[in-house]
Amino acid sequence: MPSYVVAGASRGIGLQFVVDLLARGDVVVALARNPDSSKQLQEIKGNKNLFIVKADITDAVSLKAAAEETAKLTGGAIDVLINNAAFQDAAHSYHTLVDFPSPEALVSDLTTSFNTNVLGPILTTNAFLPLLKKGTLKKVITLDTGLAVPDLTLASGYPKLTSYSISKSALEMVNVKYALALKSEGFSFLAISPGVVNTRQAPPSPEELKEIMEMGGYFMQQYPNWTGPISPAESVKMMLDVIDKLTVEGSGKLVSHKGNRDFL
Ligand SMILES: NC(=O)c1ccc[n+]([C@@H]2O[C@H](COP(=O)([O-])OP(=O)(O)OC[C@H]3O[C@@H](n4cnc5c(N)ncnc54)[C@H](OP(=O)(O)O)[C@@H]3O)[C@@H](O)[C@H]2O)c1
Repeated sequence: MPSYVVAGASRGIGLQFVVDLLARGDVVVALARNPDSSKQLQEIKGNKNLFIVKADITDAVSLKAAAEETAKLTGGAIDVLINNAAFQDAAHSYHTLVDFPSPEALVSDLTTSFNTNVLGPILTTNAFLPLLKKGTLKKVITLDTGLAVPDLTLASGYPKLTSYSISKSALEMVNVKYALALKSEGFSFLAISPGVVNTRQAPPSPEELKEIMEMGGYFMQQYPNWTGPISPAESVKMMLDVIDKLTVEGSGKLVSHKGNRDFL
């Protein structure tokens, strides 16, 4: 049975990865920064193939302890790491680079986005690398987004979701650099966009809804046949198909949940 580590497993797409992997009999180490406060993780914690481990992906000390605990649970090896956790501040999502309320707010949002969305997956990958090297599949999957792709963004004309897009764009290069550094050791790195997935825990406010509709309008120009957000279950099913088929030849790419460059 292959073993998976899923970072950011408390809710949303990360939690769905855990549920789907367990359903097919895989061993799963679910990393969460506050496992006790995830009702959904607590509900499935009796599964014999599930290990829940506390880890904050922005904290190297926490990740080192999590990797040590995981090594004890899995016999020292893991096959696949899924870097899923991410930060997006709803308060600043819809500012462009020129209309943040203050320079301090801009710096804070960019810094937190960079720390979680870029450094987080790097620190997580490095902490679990010794275990991945002992595994058989040697795959590292990182959740990215079509919003990270500069020419798509330019073509869409959409100037918002600033810090998130900038940090996820840097993450695309992180994936490339890892793929190149570890290709000779048989590793496959993949950045994958899950599509637009409804992981909201509460309905959007009227202001958010207006922004979401505006954003949708930009992207509908490029994807006129897009039918709207998909569920975590639909997205993860498609991504697992892509991940299962990943080979060293495909390492370093950014693809969509469809396994190609069709992001919606
Ligand atoms: N949903 C979409 O439409 C969409 C589209 C494109 C890309 N993506 C990407 O897909 C991934 C999952 O998206 P999602 O919608 O499921 O996100 P989400 O619902 O916002 O969940 C984010 C997850 O990351 C965890 N997390 C955040 N900071 C963390 C930290 N410092 N340490 C450990 N865990 C941390 C959260 O844990 P807590 O519960 O502790 O906060 C939560 O489990 C993200 O990388 C996102 O950028 C999503």
